[in-house]
Amino acid sequence: MIKRNFLLLMASGQLSREEALECTRCRHACHVMLYSDTKSQLFGKFPIRHIILMQMRFDGLLGFPGGLVDPSKETLEEGLTRELSEELGLPLPISVEDHVESCFAPPSSPPFSSPFSSRLMLHFYVKKIEEEQIREVERVAASTATDHGQEVLGMVRVPLYTMKSGGGLAHFLSHSFIGNARSQLVSSLLRFNMASLEELRKALTRSQEIHS
Ligand code: GTP
Ligand code: MN
Ligand code: MN
Ligand code: MN
Ligand code: MN
Ligand code: MN
Repeated sequence: MIKRNFLLLMASGQLSREEALECTRCRHACHVMLYSDTKSQLFGKFPIRHIILMQMRFDGLLGFPGGLVDPSKETLEEGLTRELSEELGLPLPISVEDHVESCFAPPSSPPFSSPFSSRLMLHFYVKKIEEEQIREVERVAASTATDHGQEVLGMVRVPLYTMKSGGGLAHFLSHSFIGNARSQLVSSLLRFNMASLEELRKALTRSQEIHS
């Protein structure tokens, strides 16, 4: 029952790819969570389990790689693949099958919101790749990617574990995220069985206590 309510909460306001594309007046943006399995361990004792890539953006916020796409000129997936080549520095084709959800961007608060700008539609993708590919993305993104040091300050991995001190996922979640990237992360961890509902609830609760 708890799980169902949680999923409903996460699912609120979601649109299919097709429904979202019907908004021809919207600006559209696509972002992707790239991840792999891993057998590596932190300090030889905390299983890392999955490598999940996010980025520190130019504005100091955490987000997923990707960006603005113009559906009148390119498909969503072509646009996302283009953004990845700019931000990560290598081709990583994303396909329709990797689409997870679309929704309107949460309204930005003044002074950033403008009554003249059209609404932003966000499309979210998740793609599992090999651990070696993740490592290659990290190497290239930090060296030859066009946007390195400009739009993208660096790629970061998401710690999924919780240490005795409480360090790990809760601290990561306590940082500031762009748009609804935090909830995209949390709902994907649940959806793709990378964390349990109980772990996520604990980590989210703790993350809210950290700066308060
Ligand atoms: P430019 O090349 O400078 O235009 O940037 P971009 O095309 O890479 O766009 P960006 O990645 O900044 O995404 C466009 C907008 O989408 C942002 O201004 C945010 O409002 C939103 N956004 C960015 N990253 C994320 C993310 O990870 N999740 C969600 N939900 N929204 C995001
Ligand atoms: Mn050390
Ligand atoms: Mn970009
Ligand atoms: Mn971007
Ligand atoms: Mn762009
Ligand atoms: Mn750009």
